[in-house]
Amino acid sequence: MISPSPIPKNIETMMKKIFATLLVFLPFVGMNAQECPLVGNILQRNITSLNGKWHYIVDVQEEGYYDYRMNPTRWGFFRNAKPQRPEDLIEYDFDKAATMQIPGDWNTQDERLFFYEGTVWFKHSFQYQPKEGRKALLYFGAVNYEAIVYVNGEKMGRHVGGFTPFNYDVTKYLKKGENVVIVKVDNKRHKDNVPTQIFDWWNYGGITRDVLLVDVPDTYVENYSLQLAKTVAQPKAKKAAPATLVFSARLNEKKAGEPVVLSIPELKLKQQLTTDAEGVVNASLTLGKKQRLQLWSPDAPKRYHVEIASGSETLVDSIGFRTIETRGKQILLNGQPVFLKGVSMHEERPNGGGRANGTQDARTLLSWAKNLGCNFVRLAHYPHNEYTIREAERMGIMVWSEIPLYWTISWTNAGTFDNACRQLTDMIRRDQNRANIIIWSIANETPHSAQRDNFLSRMAQKARELDSTRLISMAMEVTGASNYVNRLQDNMNQYVDVVSFNQYIGWYRDVNDAPKMKWEIPYDKPVIISEFGGGAKAGYHGAKNQRWTEEFQENLYIENTAMLDKIEGLSGTTPWVLKDFRSPRRVLDGIQDYYNRKGLYSDKGERKKASYVLEEWYKTK
Ligand code: GCU
Repeated sequence: MISPSPIPKNIETMMKKIFATLLVFLPFVGMNAQECPLVGNILQRNITSLNGKWHYIVDVQEEGYYDYRMNPTRWGFFRNAKPQRPEDLIEYDFDKAATMQIPGDWNTQDERLFFYEGTVWFKHSFQYQPKEGRKALLYFGAVNYEAIVYVNGEKMGRHVGGFTPFNYDVTKYLKKGENVVIVKVDNKRHKDNVPTQIFDWWNYGGITRDVLLVDVPDTYVENYSLQLAKTVAQPKAKKAAPATLVFSARLNEKKAGEPVVLSIPELKLKQQLTTDAEGVVNASLTLGKKQRLQLWSPDAPKRYHVEIASGSETLVDSIGFRTIETRGKQILLNGQPVFLKGVSMHEERPNGGGRANGTQDARTLLSWAKNLGCNFVRLAHYPHNEYTIREAERMGIMVWSEIPLYWTISWTNAGTFDNACRQLTDMIRRDQNRANIIIWSIANETPHSAQRDNFLSRMAQKARELDSTRLISMAMEVTGASNYVNRLQDNMNQYVDVVSFNQYIGWYRDVNDAPKMKWEIPYDKPVIISEFGGGAKAGYHGAKNQRWTEEFQENLYIENTAMLDKIEGLSGTTPWVLKDFRSPRRVLDGIQDYYNRKGLYSDKGERKKASYVLEEWYKTK
């Protein structure tokens, strides 16, 4: 029997925080005319996929958007115009243009576009049947970098940021029968962007994740959060403290008195709730003795079938419950110390590169990580697609998810800050119910300055406002030692729960000095080595002091893992990197050939000798 018990103080504050963020943030952050707040759990909605072959036009000088005076033209390609009379002059025709597979990047689908950074227009036609009392939302999983979206010639909005989803309410722009969506995509790099101008991965351009038409009732559950409150996990307690689930949901409209029913059949939990004036429900549900909760963990990645019903719609989800916290230099999963046996990875398809997308790509890459003995992955340096997160959750792999505040960001630019906030918000709102995500990372290898500290400290605060249930971190760096003593010093230590840093002893510095190295990390917090490693060309063999040989990389791992074992409070590592990945910064012919070769696997999935060193080391953890 569920007893909505009086709400303990800490849960009350947690609910207030979630409620406040649900209320305050979402509606306003960088939204355009038809854009609507991000809809959660999209894959379980009533969706029509618009994936498939889309026509595309490469528009180097944005002829389809600006006139010859560089003013936006109203005769642009978004009109999808066709000659009406023989003398009419229309100098583009999507339907005569080539097609490429969407989702997918253009770099690996059209060899002319391998290095291309600029504008490409995409066009797709689809059938639609308007329905009474229903809305149609157009959802993009991600578009890199800037997307300007048109439906039947009408501008829906502009979105920036290549790794987070966005959606538009297109109901009133659709008509019965054939409809046309056109997207102007531009992946040109700019210093004020997020990421900024330079980054060590391939700038894959295009509509890189799903495009979905989502059919929802006029009033629908926009998003929800269901978490296990932190209080419960006292494993040694004679009898387990009753578990408390904290649930909140928000409708797309500020409608009071709307019923929302949360059901978890396996727990015989069915809770009827009613929305307040904001269209929001909040509840803290303390489970009864018979409702023993099996917690999610890498060894037992238990997920419960959950139903959220409102009006004519029932959303289903698979949600795991676990607690994650720190105690001194320990990371506790479900109250137990855990060592994060990780690896860093990019969202890149094996065998030739290209943006990975879909469950199959995820399963391939994550199984490579599992083969190394991993229970954790750092998804670098941007939010990866939802399939990867859900597949990792199913496989029992914990996740570090990160926004691309990478290297020299424009710290004093307000637009850059808003953009980063938006990416942080959307990353958290998309994946807030994924039990396997334990760490939100707000940055990687950022140069020390007061401006940077100001920017990132506010970002850390915002992450906590958006989600107070997970750990916050960032990849700091230690780039030098004096007298073999490596000191981590970073003002941001006070804003994070876990101090993580990248170090490249044996590759970028102090080759073969790892055995002599000492570490000073003056913070009473768990330590994660978020990057270490070195390059090797798979199959290239030689002396262990010969750069680029597998033996050099193997020896580097032998020395580094022994060195890392000496670090007090070491709670995890995510060596750089799971597999060789494409990068325009890696130009050494015959060795790199535009690949970063620090993979433990080659791009083709061949295991390098160093990978066995890591696997053996993780057996000791
Ligand atoms: C950096 C950076 C990575 C990069 C790696 C490397 O630490 O975070 O994105 O690929 O080093 O140099 O290989």
